[in-house]
Amino acid sequence: MVKSKLPFNHILVVFVIFMAIFENGYGIGVNWGTMATHQLPPEKVVQMMQENGFDKVKLFEADPRILKALIGSEIEVMLAIPNLMLQQMSDDPGFAAAWVDENVTSYIYPGGVYIKYVAVGNEPFLKTYNGTYLQCTLPALQNVQNALNHAGFGSRIKATVPFNADVYYSPDSNPVPSAGDFRPEVRDITIKIVEFLYSNDAPFTVNIYPFLSLYSNTYFPFDYAFFDGSKNPITDGDRTYTNLFDANFDTLVSSLAKSGYPEMKILVGEVGWPTDGDKNANNENAKRFNQGLVQHILSENGTPARKGVIEAYLFSLIDENAKSIAPGPFERHWGIFEYDGKPKYELDLFGFGENKGLVAVKGVEYMLRKWCVLNPKADDLGELPKNIDYACSLSDCTALGYGSSCNHIGVKGNACYAFNMYYQLQNQNTWDCDFSGLAVETDENPSDNRCQFPVMIAHGNPVGLLLHKEVFGIFLGVLEGFVVFLLLVS
Ligand SMILES: *[C@@H]1O[C@H](CO)[C@@H](O)[C@H](O)[C@H]1NC(C)=O
Ligand SMILES: *[C@@H]1O[C@H](CO)[C@@H](O)[C@H](O)[C@H]1NC(C)=O
Repeated sequence: MVKSKLPFNHILVVFVIFMAIFENGYGIGVNWGTMATHQLPPEKVVQMMQENGFDKVKLFEADPRILKALIGSEIEVMLAIPNLMLQQMSDDPGFAAAWVDENVTSYIYPGGVYIKYVAVGNEPFLKTYNGTYLQCTLPALQNVQNALNHAGFGSRIKATVPFNADVYYSPDSNPVPSAGDFRPEVRDITIKIVEFLYSNDAPFTVNIYPFLSLYSNTYFPFDYAFFDGSKNPITDGDRTYTNLFDANFDTLVSSLAKSGYPEMKILVGEVGWPTDGDKNANNENAKRFNQGLVQHILSENGTPARKGVIEAYLFSLIDENAKSIAPGPFERHWGIFEYDGKPKYELDLFGFGENKGLVAVKGVEYMLRKWCVLNPKADDLGELPKNIDYACSLSDCTALGYGSSCNHIGVKGNACYAFNMYYQLQNQNTWDCDFSGLAVETDENPSDNRCQFPVMIAHGNPVGLLLHKEVFGIFLGVLEGFVVFLLLVS
């Protein structure tokens, strides 16, 4: 027994040294979400991340295809457990152990995947969840960390919980960072989680979104959302705040200090700016925000209350056209890269000031250069609204809304856009470009310089499509049956 253990220990020592080399890189991380109908091949995305110098990634779940693509990449990984698994993780330590075994242990070997954090849930205390995860989050966190410890990874893989920034606040009577505290409804349970994280030398993870403050408050001072100065700085004792990010971060610093944890390590799990679906969501603002954030991080100045390095994961890598738009139409446009892996704007991740731009995903394959548009010969347009609604309900029309990139194209343009999005998401089947005879295929690109009519990529497992089919499967089945019936009759 003892003898057979020796070689393994040697390998482990080499491996730990190998890990330590990368431990101190302060690269900028990025969130890689996969709620898209068509996915770029993970290996190509990993290659793109390496070429651009993203050396940390946060994944929303342990997708085996992505983990496989990360093998040998030296990219540091934060691996999340979805909220829907929290109850079982909490009830059953065996469940947590099995998760760690399948999704962590099997990737940890020399040259494997460099997993550094496990994120237990995602914003579990969000108000929209009505407290569903309030009780199970801490026991789930404990069970996951225990399972990691038991597997021998306790000292280098830390479990954490990514919180939404509204678990803390400053009172309206004194809206300054130093008055920050956890919200009364979640204070006790959040402090217990902080206690556990602290005792385990794990960070407090928080998602900070100045865009959402601007979106939800018409009177929000626009420049204060960015990093290049503000006409209305906030004074807090001898500290001055010129941007919301720092003020928000320091509200957390105060909340932690008030709870007895002034030294608690903080990780920013998500931060970013969308490029469509709202009047403030465009490439210019996204670049201004993200570049400002990157400079801020690279300066290593920290915030007024917490000097030093800020660790953050940008949200997000690639657009996700199957995300819920309950929070707003901008939800599908957070990517620094388009659905097809093209960068939307230049972003200098290292502060070289070269403005070289980001490298696109290479070797992307597209479907044919075909679009589906409103038939110019269609004269009875009475059925148009119904058909647009149908097409949009099963695809993505978030670019058509007020303040969005395709808001200017008029009713007929809207029909073209909707039909095309549906058609592309259905992989350009001719029978998906009909809409009661209102639609027709074309090889003429209907895009203008603001409004892009995409041609879908010819890759991957269309996960979102399957999801839609689950919900609308019966309906589609009936519809398809009807179409077949018509074909047979005629
Ligand atoms: C590993 O993670 C995946 C993705 O979240 C999940 O579907 C699977 O059930 C996990 N494995 C175990 C044994 O829990
Ligand atoms: C939360 O409660 C509201 C109102 O009671 C309800 O409409 C909503 O579906 C609930 N959400 C969840 C996630 O349970």
